Amino acid sequence: MRKVPSSITPVLAVNRKSSTPIYRQLYDSFRDLIVQGSLGSGQQIPSTRTLAKELGISRFPVLNAYAQLLDEGYFEGHIGSGTVVSSSLPDQPALSGPVSLRSTGILSGPRRSSQISAQLPKVETVPWLQGRAPFVGSQLALDQFPFNVWSRLLAFRCRKILENSLHYGHPMGLRDLREAIATYLRTARAVRCQAEQIMIVSGSQQALDIASRVLLDRKDRVWLEEPGYTLARHIFMMAGTRLVPVPVDQEGLDVAAGKKLCARAKAVYVCPSHQYPLGVVMSASRRLQLLHWAQSTGSWIIEDDYDSEYRYAGAPIASLQGLDRYSRVIYIGTFSKVLFPSVRIGYVVVPPDLVEQFVAVRQAMDIFPSNLYQQVLSDFINQGHFERHIRRMRAIYHERRNALVASIRKDLADILRVLGGDAGLHLTVTLKKPASDVAISARAALQNLWLWPLSICYLGSAPRQGFVLGFGGIPVDQMPKAVHRLRAVLDEKLVKSAVRSGI
Ligand SMILES: Cc1ncc(COP(=O)(O)O)c(C=O)c1O
Repeated sequence: MRKVPSSITPVLAVNRKSSTPIYRQLYDSFRDLIVQGSLGSGQQIPSTRTLAKELGISRFPVLNAYAQLLDEGYFEGHIGSGTVVSSSLPDQPALSGPVSLRSTGILSGPRRSSQISAQLPKVETVPWLQGRAPFVGSQLALDQFPFNVWSRLLAFRCRKILENSLHYGHPMGLRDLREAIATYLRTARAVRCQAEQIMIVSGSQQALDIASRVLLDRKDRVWLEEPGYTLARHIFMMAGTRLVPVPVDQEGLDVAAGKKLCARAKAVYVCPSHQYPLGVVMSASRRLQLLHWAQSTGSWIIEDDYDSEYRYAGAPIASLQGLDRYSRVIYIGTFSKVLFPSVRIGYVVVPPDLVEQFVAVRQAMDIFPSNLYQQVLSDFINQGHFERHIRRMRAIYHERRNALVASIRKDLADILRVLGGDAGLHLTVTLKKPASDVAISARAALQNLWLWPLSICYLGSAPRQGFVLGFGGIPVDQMPKAVHRLRAVLDEKLVKSAVRSGI
């Protein structure tokens, strides 16, 4: 049985005005908590001195109540040397066991939640999200991360906790980190920004949430790339907006098609540097069309630049924000791909006239970002480790990407077509033969292969089937074997679906 520290005092009903003596009230409360399962066997009980102090009563009734609970076998141990709930008592499964998410059996009456939350897809245990083996989407080469450096910086910041880093901080985040990010973005991504415009957030997901709260009202229309990033879609669903899926072709989001579908959308969400999932880079002419549309309709462009640190062909691509002369672009970036996702640090570059509103919304949401990792990350960047890490990882991922493309061309060219692939940590492939990508992904999961089905990235019906294949976590020498295993799953499934459809 899990023990909790004795200093945690359970909620005990003690009423000084009651005619029932205090010792009896304490005895009844403890016994009820044990019988209901709120206190489990082996769990530590506060000392009589601590409990008396916390309840503001004399120690005598506490001593009497404990003595009786010991006598009757509810408690064991000795007063003064640690008392615990008796380990011989059976646990009470009804209330102390894991609560069933469907029904606790004690709920009644109408249970109305918001319509919007009910519309969000359930975080189900889809088969292709369960593992950490070949082709998982966001898997990184974490064994290559300089954890020795990171833990040294972390230990230093923990030892040197300055008093002012323990207080509430500013909703925009830590000044040092914002300066470091602004310098990086101006140089590496051609973003036009000052530190005053950078808001630190807990990943792109929070950036999207804050941006949608600042920019959008319910029923506003929002263009989304089709196919696109499902987690961005969920943010705009939560905001109660109307989603307008706009097709993506070889040049990126089709602006003319968007105008035909809904000329006056309030905002557009795009990944111009590396479209998710198709991997397309938005052409210069489409970028200018999009900026011109946003300016002429008063719309906002939300640019998600989630992985362009990893570009393997040609010169780095400048951000769309850097081309914007009208302050229409909200630029979002993340450290999930360049460090590790659980660091939960990202950033938004906010147009100067919107900074106050972003601050107000942030304050209302979670007040400000936690300090410690921000300090460690700003040290990591300022001491040059970040830049070195990106350079090293770009070379490693480039090799892994080449190995995946070569293996697919060698072993799977008759079944799969490769799309994009000049950047990032995933490659998208489409099936050349008719089959259900969802069914194949479910089958592959049983073989410990994790394929993200392309069709679920479409809001409307999917015109093609395929997979988003993560390659970041697969060393070069293991790639041919992983592709070989993929071939086996595809062969088995494709033969079955061909037989079913009489081909
Ligand atoms: C399109 C896109 N944007 C952003 C992210 C990163 O999200 P976060 O910063 O919330 O971890 C991902 C991660 O896979 C992504 O695919």
